[in-house]
Amino acid sequence: MNSNEPGHSAKTPVARESFREDGLLDQEWSDFCEILNDHSSDWSNRFERISKRMDHIDYDRFPAHLKCPVVQCYRRTVIGAQHTPTEPGFEAVLAHWRLQCVTPIHGHPPVLMYRALSGLYRMTMYRLNNGIPEPVEDRMIRAGDWFYHVGEGDGYDHFIHSIECIEEGWTLNLYSDDAQKGIKYTA
Ligand SMILES: [Fe+2]
Repeated sequence: MNSNEPGHSAKTPVARESFREDGLLDQEWSDFCEILNDHSSDWSNRFERISKRMDHIDYDRFPAHLKCPVVQCYRRTVIGAQHTPTEPGFEAVLAHWRLQCVTPIHGHPPVLMYRALSGLYRMTMYRLNNGIPEPVEDRMIRAGDWFYHVGEGDGYDHFIHSIECIEEGWTLNLYSDDAQKGIKYTA
């Protein structure tokens, strides 16, 4: 490989693409969609039920190729998506994290849910000051921990944060639109 090729610096370890895996967690995705579409319940209730559904996922049985092959990096696998190129809709992303992976500071579409299936992560939250992200809080996220966020309005600058992997593992997250559209504030 040409080492002068743009975008292939040794300092850009984080994979940016998502892989689609058909046939993985199909029943779970179908159940998540049913709960997400239950508009008679509030978000708190819906995400509580989704988290309970995630309790039954056996991450030890995930195929080995879903693991990230690159050190200090992570691999994103989309298990289902409702959005289209023109319309927003939820997607579920399974991620495998390698030790010391640090994501860029990034935002998300308005609604999201994070759940650590295994591993340990440090999440740093930011607020924008004149468009520049400033750290406001660190949280540790352990296996089984989960949370959700419902932002006001549209856009892809909600819940601005970065994640560092402290112990390798799997996370399973839901986003109210294509997570790749989230704004990145750092490389
Ligand atoms: Fe994120």
